[in-house]
Amino acid sequence: MELEFYKQFGNPERPARKFSAPARINIIGEHVDYLGGTVLPAAIDFSIDIYVRPNSSNVYRFYSENFKSLITVSEIKKAEKHTWINYILGVIDQLQKRNLSVPGFDLSMNGNIPQGAGLSSSAALEVVVGFALSTIYNFNLSRTEIALIGQAAENEFVGTKCGIMDQFIISQGKKNNCISLNTNSLEFSYHQFDLKDKEFYLIQSNVKHSLKDSAYNTRREECESALRKIQEINPNLDNLYDLEDTFDLSKVSLSIEETKRVQHVLSEKIRTKNTIAGLLSQNFNLVGKSLYECHWSLSKNFEVSCPETDFIVETLQKESILGARMIGGGFGGCVLVLDNKNSNKSYQSMLQESYKNLFHKELSFYHFSICDGVHEIGVNS
Ligand code: GLA
Repeated sequence: MELEFYKQFGNPERPARKFSAPARINIIGEHVDYLGGTVLPAAIDFSIDIYVRPNSSNVYRFYSENFKSLITVSEIKKAEKHTWINYILGVIDQLQKRNLSVPGFDLSMNGNIPQGAGLSSSAALEVVVGFALSTIYNFNLSRTEIALIGQAAENEFVGTKCGIMDQFIISQGKKNNCISLNTNSLEFSYHQFDLKDKEFYLIQSNVKHSLKDSAYNTRREECESALRKIQEINPNLDNLYDLEDTFDLSKVSLSIEETKRVQHVLSEKIRTKNTIAGLLSQNFNLVGKSLYECHWSLSKNFEVSCPETDFIVETLQKESILGARMIGGGFGGCVLVLDNKNSNKSYQSMLQESYKNLFHKELSFYHFSICDGVHEIGVNS
């Protein structure tokens, strides 16, 4: 990759700096990070790595090794082709909106975060670019500010109204720890859970849904309109997540969709408490049960699953695997599995085969370690 940077941009005697950002999983707290909820993500060891060097001009040049394309940009405007550059341009746009001038630079990138797998490759790109520019141009932004800049880039420039979870964990992640994050106050704490003889791993459905982003925005709008209706009789309620779970929803004229979305959010709050309690007390049956319940709530009430991920989870449940659920925005992507480390994994080949027969697609199985958040390579690493 280093070679590729100098092949594209020359002058190897002027060294570029290298930065890396991880992917993420989320143990529980799904589709609540734009509603003031608590989430439990961790950074994992897939990454996007970039080389960056100021180029003493007013143009930005971006090279992607994965796409084998070099793009030169002199105006910050949303791209319709080569849309991967929008995650970089969105960050520059946000920095400029904060009155930080971003002189021209050259950037090459390379990554192994599977795209469309729900592991947040786009947030990783936003965060690594924000972190790198803050470092090379001495903006002195905190990790939380870098996360907020990444989220604003995605919301305003790219157009996906995501919450803060992905950018936050990619900025603040710590080796062997997950964080519990209050997405309302942005207070967070690190947790190092002892999984004993259990392990988490991922099954990638290899489904990429083209309507994913628009459906995501619709879910968010439905939750926001439900909140507005509830606020008419409960004006002190700031966040949907803070609604009492004893609240009688029939007192408000919610649509069927809005009611189901609220039911997911209220029940997710209970599952998140149970999951954290289960991880702390090593009650893995409780953790696993909460993961399955979360999946079916995302599928039936939040309606962000798909037949493929439902099939994977249903099969694992029939096989009495401890727990499993889709993670991230949904409509495909990965299933997070909790299993005994030394279990007989013959169920995986059975699952692979029946999945192929039914959906004509392969499954991929990913093992991972929990790692640090964004960082400069070669500096304290
Ligand atoms: C995507 C978004 C996050 C979050 C999850 C669902 O990953 O980027 O902000 O909303 O979906 O929990």
